[in-house]
Amino acid sequence: MKNISVIGSGTMGNGIAHVFAQFGYQVNLIDINKDALEKAINTIGKNLDRQVTKGTITEVQKAETIKNITVLTDMQLGVANADFIVEAATENLDLKLKIFKDLDAFAKPEAILASNTSSISITKIASVTNRGAKVIGMHFMNPVPVMKLVEVIRGYATSNETTATIMDLSKKLEKAPVEVNDYPGFVANRILMPMINEAIYTLYENVAGVEEIDTVMKLGMAHPMGPLQLADFIGLDVCLAILRVLHDGFGNPKYAPCPLLINMVTAGNKGIKSGEGFYNYS
Ligand code: CAA
Repeated sequence: MKNISVIGSGTMGNGIAHVFAQFGYQVNLIDINKDALEKAINTIGKNLDRQVTKGTITEVQKAETIKNITVLTDMQLGVANADFIVEAATENLDLKLKIFKDLDAFAKPEAILASNTSSISITKIASVTNRGAKVIGMHFMNPVPVMKLVEVIRGYATSNETTATIMDLSKKLEKAPVEVNDYPGFVANRILMPMINEAIYTLYENVAGVEEIDTVMKLGMAHPMGPLQLADFIGLDVCLAILRVLHDGFGNPKYAPCPLLINMVTAGNKGIKSGEGFYNYS
């Protein structure tokens, strides 16, 4: 595999493009929004600077990484040569289904199509393509250049060969891949989101304040961020969407999103990206 296309240049997309380019792959980073692409290249530059400062990469490696990335707004053109495509668009089912239908039409028949979805069914995504065996989940964690885990999600039709290829590809990026099956929330978010939701319920029921809840989890359980700070970092809208997938998928009231989370998202308080969540970022 040499040519990689990444669809979507937001936080996850630019992180994924960064890591592939750093390990020598030719990356086409595709987004319908030209300004978003410009912002993504800026962000990648800043994150590479952190690595240079830290001494994990050199200035030359930084320049090579940037050189390995081409930005495009035309998806058909951007995926024509790709051996592997990873989609990291907004977490919206209809949008992902549309993208995968198009990718199936535009990409080489032998290309593997992956989604970085945090909770949408890979089996459902694969069902709109004619290459179910070659569709898989490749779920990176934020910040992508820092976090070691890749959750590799096998849809119902994903072949052993595709799974082995993506496990191997993840290792080439110096990540630690873990293979899981396609059920709501997979493993990462099935466990993480109920914890975040419980932290929000703890606040909602006035058991303790924001900082107290986060301090308990940071200092008591050695989490790098408290659950409320982490929810702001992930995006409260994303947390709500994932909890809804869990709630709908299992039909179990234990996954019902806390009314406070619903109110905050409805009011536009989405965490770091909106400037206001459990903490203020303005
Ligand atoms: N790119 C490259 N390097 C980065 C970076 C980025 N985007 N962000 C941070 N870093 C590096 C820094 O250079 C720094 O390196 P050293 O410590 O080696 O010098 C290191 O990461 C730590 O960064 P900071 O000192 O700026 O800040 P920090 O110590 O507070 O750590 C953090 C930041 C890595 C984000 C840490 O707080 C953390 O691990 N938080 C939890 C992250 C987490 O749980 N992510 C998963 C979210 S869930 C998800 O992504 C999936 C989903 O489906 C919702």
